[in-house]
Amino acid sequence: MRPEQNPDVIVVADAGELARTAAERMLARLPPSDGHLAVCLAGGSTPERLYRLLATSPYRDAVPWEQIRWFWGDDRFVPENDPRSNAGVARRLLLNRVPVPAGSICPIPRAENVVEAAHLYELELRRYYGAERLLPERPLFDMVLMGLGADGHTASLFPGRPELEEKTQWVVGVPKPGLEPFVPRVTLTFPALASTREMLFLVSGAAKRDVLGRVLSGADLPAARAYADGELVWLVDQAAAPSPSALPATQERADTSARAAPSPPSVIVVMGVSGAGKSTIAAMLAHRLGWTFEDADWFHPPGNIEKMRSGQPLTDEDRLAWLQGIAVWIGATRKEGGHAVIACSALKRAYRDILVDGRHDVRFVYLTGDRDLIALRFNLRHGHFMPAALLDSQFATLEEPGEDEHAVVVQIDAHPRDIVETAVAELGTVRFAARAS
Ligand code: 6PG
Repeated sequence: MRPEQNPDVIVVADAGELARTAAERMLARLPPSDGHLAVCLAGGSTPERLYRLLATSPYRDAVPWEQIRWFWGDDRFVPENDPRSNAGVARRLLLNRVPVPAGSICPIPRAENVVEAAHLYELELRRYYGAERLLPERPLFDMVLMGLGADGHTASLFPGRPELEEKTQWVVGVPKPGLEPFVPRVTLTFPALASTREMLFLVSGAAKRDVLGRVLSGADLPAARAYADGELVWLVDQAAAPSPSALPATQERADTSARAAPSPPSVIVVMGVSGAGKSTIAAMLAHRLGWTFEDADWFHPPGNIEKMRSGQPLTDEDRLAWLQGIAVWIGATRKEGGHAVIACSALKRAYRDILVDGRHDVRFVYLTGDRDLIALRFNLRHGHFMPAALLDSQFATLEEPGEDEHAVVVQIDAHPRDIVETAVAELGTVRFAARAS
C-alpha cells in the first residue's frame, strides 16, 4: 500500500457476516444512476459466498444490474467451463442468475498466450475508460474486490515477481504463478487496480491470520503494496483477524497522530476497574445527553460468557473478539450519525486502541479513585465483598490512559450527578452541549 495510505480494517464475526457486509458496501458504492458503473471481481474461494448472496433477495432487487460493467482483477488461463476459471465461477454463482446484459460482462479474453490476452484486455479497459492515462480524480472502477493468498499474493501478483514493479501497463501475463493452481494467469497491475473508488479486500479463516498480520504490519508482500485512489478497506472475519500484539504498526502510528487533538465525541466510553461505577455513570451520562446507553458486557460472544460463568479468566484472545465487536458497533453508530455512551472497563491501552481505531470522536471518561473506596462501592452495590484477588488483578491489569488519549479523568468520590456534569463540561463543545439540550 502507499506509505501514506492507512487502510480501514473492519472485523466481522464470521464468513457469513463478511459476505453480508461486503454486499452492503457494494450496494452503497453502486447507487442506481444514469451513468456507468464498473466492478472488478476477484478470484479464489473467499468471494464465492458474496457472489451467491448478491444473486438473492434483497440484493438481487437492489443492485442496478443494467448499469454495471463487470471486469476481473485476474484470471487463470483456462476455458470458462474449467472449474479453476474465476470468470466461470462468478458467472455460475452470480452473473448467470441476475438480469445482467450480456455485453456488460467483460472477462479476460482467451488468446494464443497470456501476453496476448493481457494486451487484448488492456485495450478493452482503455476503450471503456476512454483515455490512455488513468486519472486519480476519475477512477476506472467503482469497486475492486481483492483476495489474499497464503503467500501474501493478491490478484495474480506473486511475491518476488517482476509484475509487481509494473507501472505503465494496466494488464500483464503471468506465465508462472507462485501458488496453486499452477496455470498461467493474466492480472491487472497495481496502478490499474488502484484506479477505484473503493478497493475491498476480503479475508476469511484462521489460515489467513498470520499472513494478514504481516501484510497489515507493512511486510514487503504483494498485498501490502496494493493501494487505492479512493478508499482502501480490509474486511476480515474474526478467525482471520490478527491478535492485538500483531496490530499494524502503521495503524498504531495513525492512532497516535489521530489523537493529537481531542474531538467532540460521538461515542463516549466510560472506563475503569470493576467497582468504579462505570455502568451507573455511563447510564446517567447517556440520559443527561439524550444518547444511547450500552454496556460492554452485552457484547461478549457466547464462548466468553460460558468461560466467565465457569469462573475461567478471559485471555487477551477472548477479549479481542469482544472488543472488536464493540469497535464494529461504534463504527455503525457513527455511520448512522448516532451518539452513544458505553460502559467498558477498557483497562489496557491495546484494548482502547481497538475501540478507538483511529477515530477522533471516540472519547474516554476514566473513573478513578481510592482502592478502598472502590472496594466499598462494589460491596455496597453487589451486597457481597469483591474478592481481594479480583480487585488486585483489575489494578494490575490497569494501564491508565496516557496524555495523548485525551481521556477525561474523574474522581469517583464526588456525587454521581457531579461526576456526570464534570464529564460533560470537560468533553464539551458547543456542538456537544447543543445536542445535549
Ligand atoms: C486467484 C486470485 C487470488 C485469490 C487469493 C485468495 O485467482 O487465485 O484472484 O488472488 O484472491 O489467492 O484466494 P482464496 O479466497 O481462495 O483464499
